[in-house]
Amino acid sequence: MIRIEVPATSANVGPGFDCMGVALDWNNVITVEETGTKNVEIVVPDGCEVFLPNNDKNYVYKAMKKVFDITNKPFSGYKITIDQNVPVTRGLGSSSSAIVGGLAGANYLLGNPLSEDEILNIACNMEGHPDNVAPALLGGFVVSVREGRKVHYIKADVSDEITFAALIPDFHFSTKKSRGLLPRYVSHKNAVYNLSHASFTASAFMTGDFSKLGTGVKDRLHESYRISRIKNGADIINVCRKSGAVACYLSGAGPTVMSIVQGDGLEFENKVNSELKMHFPDWSLKMLKANNNGVIVKEV
Ligand code: HSE
Repeated sequence: MIRIEVPATSANVGPGFDCMGVALDWNNVITVEETGTKNVEIVVPDGCEVFLPNNDKNYVYKAMKKVFDITNKPFSGYKITIDQNVPVTRGLGSSSSAIVGGLAGANYLLGNPLSEDEILNIACNMEGHPDNVAPALLGGFVVSVREGRKVHYIKADVSDEITFAALIPDFHFSTKKSRGLLPRYVSHKNAVYNLSHASFTASAFMTGDFSKLGTGVKDRLHESYRISRIKNGADIINVCRKSGAVACYLSGAGPTVMSIVQGDGLEFENKVNSELKMHFPDWSLKMLKANNNGVIVKEV
């Protein structure tokens, strides 16, 4: 039996729409065991079937099958059990973690015929953009560039001097709908705004100068179109700023709001939790360090 641990991710990191992301120390766990039968059985947590189908529409299944197909091997005789710790459709990279987990697990079972770069390219082509799949695979903070069907990336480990504070509401927000809120065209001025801020944010991560993130994570390509559709999203950002966050941004397509705090952020955690309890009971706070390993597959 193999055990696959694959991290949650937070994409965009403000201005890096579809190209920047960071892996978080909060794993989904997938186990795959051989059954000797002629089919593939998928077990998902009770009540999750709407978002995690236990059939051939499941992303872990699709990703595993893709590797078996590429290598001309029959995909049968496995039981896949998905332990979904990270909430789905919240902007924390759940579909990417399923894709990367499935690809990495199948690759391991077949004796690693695919390189890490090949897995990244396949994952990106399945997901449509690299910002979540790259950190889920590689860990750390990753900037990716897509040229045709190939992804080029630069990764930096993230020090534990900072903590990521995920403010997660108890409602779903589909990425497809969230992308549908975005304008078809942007002004040259806003494009320049975003490329300067994205470069600045990436430089802050690469050099470890986290004090610059407050300036860096500002965005004009997607957040303002999305935040107004997220109930209390703007209020939650205000709570985080007032409680001492260095930087706040919408995680991926939302609805999770991500804050970055210096150190372990205990004071921030206490302040935000008491605000949530009093005014925003639909939201919860999860304090997370970065995950610098990415997906891990091991025999158990
Ligand atoms: N870059 C993506 C978006 C992340 O903002 O729509 C969600 O997959």
